[in-house]
Amino acid sequence: MSDEMVQSIAWRRDFATGVGIIDDQHRVLINMLNDAAAKLTDQSTAEEIGRIVRGLLNYADYHFKIEERLIEDHGYARERSADAGSHLREHREFVAQVMEVGQRLEQGKRVTRDELVTFLIGWLTNHILHSDKILGAFLLDKRIGGSR
Ligand SMILES: [Fe+2]
Repeated sequence: MSDEMVQSIAWRRDFATGVGIIDDQHRVLINMLNDAAAKLTDQSTAEEIGRIVRGLLNYADYHFKIEERLIEDHGYARERSADAGSHLREHREFVAQVMEVGQRLEQGKRVTRDELVTFLIGWLTNHILHSDKILGAFLLDKRIGGSR
């Protein structure tokens, strides 16, 4: 096992959107990602990688639906259409990219552990710090979702 492997992603204070359900689900996603990073090695089989990828995709899909309902229900799509549009686009791109990894695995192509973990950690960090925090601020402004 090499020391240079991308190990984990830690919850950071600035990940907090202030919207309880979003933050709770982000913590679950971060835990799932850390589990994946810990379990995967360069010797992982396509089946193992596939199982982990499907688990992440299932939870991400559920989480995106919750966020997208908040986006629809509280005027974000209407009042901040550009932000809402790019937010939804990022969700769709994530799903498409993770599905593409699944397809490559099915075709017997190689997916390296670092490639996968680096992509997942990078995407989540960037999406939370930008799109989700902008959405969170909007919702909190409307007194929606704050739990702590
Ligand atoms: Fe999001």
